[in-house]
Amino acid sequence: MKTPLFRRTVAALTLAGAALVLGSCSELKTDLPAPAAEKGVHEIGWNDPTTTAFHGKVLKAGSYDFDACVTCHARALNGGTSKTSCYACHTSYPHKVGWSDTSATQFHGKFLRLSMGTLADCATCHGANYTGGTSGRSCFTCHASYPHKTGWTGTVPATSHGGYLQGKNWNLTECAGCHGADFKGGSSGKSCFACHSAYPHSEFTLAGGHAAWLYTKGYPLTQCKTCHGATYDGGAVVSKSCMTSGCHVDAGGVKKTPEACNTCHGQFRAVASDIPTAAPPKSVLGDSLASQHSVGAHQKHLVAGALGRDVKCVECHTVPATAFASGHIDTQLPAEVVFNDTLAKLATANGTYHPVPAYVTATYKCNNTYCHGNWKALRSTAPEAYLFAYADSVIEGANYAPAWNGPTTEAACGTCHGLPPKGHLAASLQICANCHTGVVNGSGVIIDKTKHINGKIDVFGTQRPF
Ligand code: HEC
Ligand code: HEC
Ligand code: HEC
Ligand code: HEC
Ligand code: HEC
Ligand code: HEC
Ligand code: HEC
Ligand code: HEC
Ligand code: HEC
Ligand code: HEC
Ligand code: HEC
Repeated sequence: MKTPLFRRTVAALTLAGAALVLGSCSELKTDLPAPAAEKGVHEIGWNDPTTTAFHGKVLKAGSYDFDACVTCHARALNGGTSKTSCYACHTSYPHKVGWSDTSATQFHGKFLRLSMGTLADCATCHGANYTGGTSGRSCFTCHASYPHKTGWTGTVPATSHGGYLQGKNWNLTECAGCHGADFKGGSSGKSCFACHSAYPHSEFTLAGGHAAWLYTKGYPLTQCKTCHGATYDGGAVVSKSCMTSGCHVDAGGVKKTPEACNTCHGQFRAVASDIPTAAPPKSVLGDSLASQHSVGAHQKHLVAGALGRDVKCVECHTVPATAFASGHIDTQLPAEVVFNDTLAKLATANGTYHPVPAYVTATYKCNNTYCHGNWKALRSTAPEAYLFAYADSVIEGANYAPAWNGPTTEAACGTCHGLPPKGHLAASLQICANCHTGVVNGSGVIIDKTKHINGKIDVFGTQRPF
């Protein structure tokens, strides 16, 4: 049975054929308009979505077969003899070849990316919520999260991308399809790092772990808190605590904040006043060898020295009260070495000789410290009973400049002062103990670390200032 549409199609084709014949005749006017396909070929309601005769419904019932349309609307469906392009009303439909092929020029993603159409346009057929609409084809069957819903960039888990990802147990494969395998934008052009430079954590892996990443970025710990919670113990959406078993807990397994001193420095305690001398600072970047300047002679000074009392951090550094105190992590390595205590710059020679100690980063050497022999004892101000020990007007140290990362011989007996010191009555190491009693023994070993390198002259069991 011939439908009205079929009959009209034949009529239109006949006209079109006549136009072609006429057009090919050279004697006739060539600028005659090509006759349009017959007006009013379509049913009433053909263009009214509310009627059963609506072309969308007719096509849908025919599984979207356009064969019956191309004769008048052209193979490309862009007008033909009907002079009515399908794209005049729906700019993206009928979908072109390659619409679902990511590598094709007509790929729908590219079409939208290049702003050749808008999401609102898709919504007319795929539904206001993109779950199918009249087309019955949901966008979410292929990319479950796109188009992104209202509230996607917000913080309400029910609608936010964070909440969505939580539901996916943080699997980001889907996002990578459009935001790039490196999450720096990909075809979408929207980088995840534009809003939170710390997430996705793939950047940590590239930097060699989150500690190293944090160091290079200047410790943006506030960012960690927005997701991992104000106390780092797990956030509302990201329930991952920083203080789980094995991570950010003290030796007893008790939770401790990542801002605790010993997170970045060896065995520190949480408050500055509680800094123990019992353990060396581990280097910020994880070094552990004394030959590395970041580690150097810390251990020897802080606890294990054989020559003198333990030296506190504050004697060589300005100690921050909190991790975020100014002058601390807001500056880059190397660490600032400043001599805040009196010992390194102790005035000797009856208060007239002032050392100006300095650490030289280029050579890793400690220069001009009292501790390493930058001192003088004057005969002129010595007690009468001790004058015999002076072979000269002054007994003085060797002002040695030890290399911080050098071998232990940098602090060998005899480096800081001679045995005995310059200007001192001749004596062998074995007999120092005869007069410097309680300081050293007959084998030349320091026996009381509180009496050596203490800023005092210790002789015959008495003490006096230089
Ligand atoms: C015999 C030629 C012919 C065929 C076949 C044909 N059309 Fe048309 N169509 C036209 C002409 C001519 C117009 C111009 C407007 C009018 O006069 O109806 C048109 C207009 C339209 C319009 C716009 C209606 C309006 O009111 O502006 C739609 C929609 C349409 N066609 C869809 C289709 C679809 C879908 C098919 C295939 C199922 C199809 N047409 C097949 C000739 C044809
Ligand atoms: C005029 C209605 C209409 C509009 C507008 C429309 N689509 Fe479609 N779309 C359909 C129909 C109907 C189908 C299924 C039949 C077909 O492919 O022709 C479809 C299929 C698709 C498919 C293939 C689905 C599959 O399962 O293979 C994709 C992808 C798609 N549309 C994306 C889009 C995008 C993106 C937009 C907006 C830029 C859009 N569509 C606009 C009606 C439309
Ligand atoms: C005069 C405007 C107009 C023209 C021209 C037109 N359409 Fe439509 N078409 C619509 C409207 C309006 C809808 C309903 C959806 C919407 O609002 O976009 C629709 C829907 C459709 C749908 C239904 C998709 C679905 O969700 O099931 C198909 C298929 C379709 N058109 C095919 C065509 C084809 C093929 C042509 C060209 C031959 C064409 N249309 C030309 C206005 C038009
Ligand atoms: C048949 C599967 C399929 C359907 C249905 C589908 N898409 Fe896609 N779409 C893809 C694929 C595949 C990609 C490429 C990215 C990827 O792998 O996730 C893509 C990418 C896109 C992009 C590219 C974004 C960018 O990074 O440039 C947009 C926009 C898009 N789709 C919109 C839509 C919309 C809107 C709908 C529904 C109207 C839809 N898609 C339906 C398969 C589909
Ligand atoms: C437009 C800015 C923006 C972009 C782009 C962005 N996010 Fe977010 N993201 C946020 C905001 C805002 C939060 C809520 C937490 C906060 O305040 O930082 C968040 C939180 C998250 C969360 C944690 C869950 C939560 O809600 O606390 C994850 C996981 C996440 N985003 C992943 C991603 C991924 C993956 C990308 C890239 C595909 C991305 N984000 C791109 C703004 C953005
Ligand atoms: C099919 C492609 C596609 C997929 C898959 C996709 N996105 Fe997007 N995303 C886009 C496009 C395109 C934009 C920018 C325009 C827009 O919002 O439509 C965007 C924007 C965003 C934004 C907002 C950026 C801003 O500045 O407003 C966030 C956040 C986001 N995406 C996160 C995600 C997350 C998280 C995932 C994985 C669950 C994901 N996206 C998956 C394509 C995609
Ligand atoms: C946008 C939200 C977000 C921000 C900002 C964020 N994280 Fe995360 N983090 C997560 C999510 C989600 C997970 C769990 C899934 C994963 O590993 O991707 C996680 C996991 C981790 C893990 C692994 C925990 C485990 O159980 O393996 C570490 C370590 C971590 N984050 C450290 C940090 C640090 C350090 C910062 C600050 C520089 C930070 N995070 C900032 C969301 C975030
Ligand atoms: C005797 C002086 C001295 C004492 C005491 C001392 N330091 Fe240092 N510290 C240095 C020197 C010298 C460097 C090397 C600077 C360089 O890198 O060239 C240094 C480097 C550092 C560094 C940077 C190296 C790194 O990568 O980790 C930190 C952090 C540090 N010290 C912390 C401490 C802390 C904490 C204490 C107390 C527990 C302490 N120091 C005690 C002299 C000292
Ligand atoms: C998040 C990691 C981190 C935490 C937590 C931290 N530090 Fe540091 N600290 C560093 C870094 C990095 C440096 C080297 C920066 C520099 O050269 O100024 C440093 C340097 C130091 C220095 C050497 C002087 C200086 O500023 O260069 C001392 C002393 C020190 N820290 C003590 C502390 C104390 C005390 C605490 C606890 C209140 C603490 N640190 C907590 C990372 C940290
Ligand atoms: C016979 C006693 C005697 C012997 C032996 C002796 N000293 Fe002294 N030493 C003194 C006296 C007395 C002074 C001067 C004290 C003063 O000026 O108050 C002195 C001064 C010093 C000073 C400078 C001031 C101070 O006490 O720091 C040093 C250093 C020193 N001796 C090291 C040694 C060493 C090392 C030996 C062994 C190699 C040694 N002495 C052996 C008696 C002795
Ligand atoms: C790191 C530098 C340094 C080294 C190494 C060193 N001394 Fe001293 N020594 C000093 C200083 C500084 C004084 C000055 C007095 C003081 O502060 O105790 C001193 C003083 C002395 C005195 C005089 C008693 C006193 O303390 O006033 C004796 C004895 C002495 N040293 C013996 C030794 C012996 C023995 C060795 C090797 C086992 C040695 N020293 C290695 C720095 C050093």
